Amino acid sequence: MTTQPFLAVTHVAALESFLSGMGTVFRKFDEQDSGCISYGLEVAGSRWFVKAASKATDVCSLRRAISVHQAVSHPAIVPLVHSFTTEEGLALVYPWVRGEVLYHPTRSRHGGRATPGSPMARFRTLPIVRIQTALEAVLSAHLAVEQTGLVAVDFYDGCMLYDFSEHRMVLCDLDEYRHGPFTLEADRLPGSTRYMAPEEFSRGSLIDIRTTVFNLGRALRLLLDAGDDETRWRGTPAQLAVIERATAPEPERRWPSVRSLTDAWHAAA
Ligand SMILES: Nc1ncnc2c1ncn2[C@@H]1O[C@H](COP(=O)(O)OP(=O)(O)OP(=O)(O)O)[C@@H](O)[C@H]1O
Ligand SMILES: [Mg+2]
Repeated sequence: MTTQPFLAVTHVAALESFLSGMGTVFRKFDEQDSGCISYGLEVAGSRWFVKAASKATDVCSLRRAISVHQAVSHPAIVPLVHSFTTEEGLALVYPWVRGEVLYHPTRSRHGGRATPGSPMARFRTLPIVRIQTALEAVLSAHLAVEQTGLVAVDFYDGCMLYDFSEHRMVLCDLDEYRHGPFTLEADRLPGSTRYMAPEEFSRGSLIDIRTTVFNLGRALRLLLDAGDDETRWRGTPAQLAVIERATAPEPERRWPSVRSLTDAWHAAA
């Protein structure tokens, strides 16, 4: 990788003007639900994604992201390359990844996965083999997640950056992943309800790798369908049966691990 220009940066007072002084800010994400503000920055021909938090809860989730990236690295997970403090909080630096997230909700706009021309709608028209390859990247990344003892939280199509020209799937924003198992001490976890397991909505429940298996099962179900309402399945009946077990409401009826889910998925292909 190109030597990253942030190496000597440990603290920055005014982030935006600092970044403008360093290079060209070519994108700004200031409408995210999370409240974080992120920037696409180009410096001497290389591109970076800088994500900054100022509110305490957001700083907390970026701290969590640091520990996630310390624990896991995988070709299909955008690597964290640097972090530094700012006057208000914390900033993380990632390489800029070409592509589009399959779903991009903002504070003013949610939904639209079925809209023709949207990234998700375009993804769903790709040849099945492209979809399978992308799903393989998602599963493979989560095998690495599983090996480190992390469990997925807030995993959904907004984490899936897909490059439609290179046909490459990379995962971003795994900030909420945690070491598991853990007991849910709130009324629910953050996340997209379409991807979430029942236990994620129940205070006191155990969140473990089977919760991750459910989240992945939902990803398999939703991405390998030609439409958005789960009526146009593109895979085989055997694959659908693997998903049914992955997304059983009771955790004990699911595949017990990402490994077993992945093996079953491969056997069904
Ligand atoms: N490394 C990257 N390279 C290029 N673009 C990225 C990268 N990481 C994230 N993005 C883009 O920036 C957007 C915001 O990033 P991210 O999802 O991490 O922010 P967030 O503040 O947590 O948003 P949300 O509230 O939706 O979770 C993503 O939807 C994606 O389009
Ligand atoms: Mg987020």
